[in-house]
Amino acid sequence: MRKLMAANWKMYKTSTEATATIEKLSTLLGGSAPAGREVLIFAPFTALEAAATAMRTFHNGSVGAQNMYPAEEGAFTGEISPAMIKSCGASWVLAGHSERRHLLGENDDFIGRKLRFALEKNLNVMLCVGETLEERERGELPIVLERQITLALAGVTAEALPHLALAYEPVWAIGTGRTAEMDDIQEAHSLLKSLVKKHFGKDCKVPILYGGSVKAENASAILALDNVDGVLVGGASLQAESFTKIVTA
Ligand code: 13P
Repeated sequence: MRKLMAANWKMYKTSTEATATIEKLSTLLGGSAPAGREVLIFAPFTALEAAATAMRTFHNGSVGAQNMYPAEEGAFTGEISPAMIKSCGASWVLAGHSERRHLLGENDDFIGRKLRFALEKNLNVMLCVGETLEERERGELPIVLERQITLALAGVTAEALPHLALAYEPVWAIGTGRTAEMDDIQEAHSLLKSLVKKHFGKDCKVPILYGGSVKAENASAILALDNVDGVLVGGASLQAESFTKIVTA
């Protein structure tokens, strides 16, 4: 399976900065990701169109939004619809990122609604899941992942499989510099694989990415793990130089 090398730019970069970063990335990578790898950038809404335009000069690359609202249109002040995202040239959206769960109060039901609506509107969805430090210490990793997966995927059929990716992002490893141990990553990824199999009733080729303090120094060890199909990178994706080292790791 190809490896997805995804960048989550969070609330960083104006459209001018996004264009400059992608142009630099493209130059450093010689216009395309290495064979078997694909670059995906989750840009802020205001830089989405600029990022998608810059990405058109890049092979094996696409752009996604970091959020959306599950409605066609309407009186939802401050929100963005799937059609608006697609009109910018983006083809992906994140759902369930821990910053939206924990800082903005999104729950599993709402995340599930977003995921289903995005798929219905032909966006590819990357569903983020992961436990907090307290949940991990209480031994609740399997319960938390099962709850997050079951509620988000409720009603999602196998037809959606080519448009779905998962990202395991332990909350305690995000932006902390503390990467999960390789054993922890393997354990969580195999739990996720079996939860996906249980939901769809068969082995599925849903890419499962790891995210949480991924950097040039640890990327190749993480990518070499059996059931890791890519990485979702925050801080280290903001500079073209460091993200290039990860993409080529
Ligand atoms: P960091 O790579 O900065 O830890 O962020 C990870 C993340 O949240 C990606 O979605």
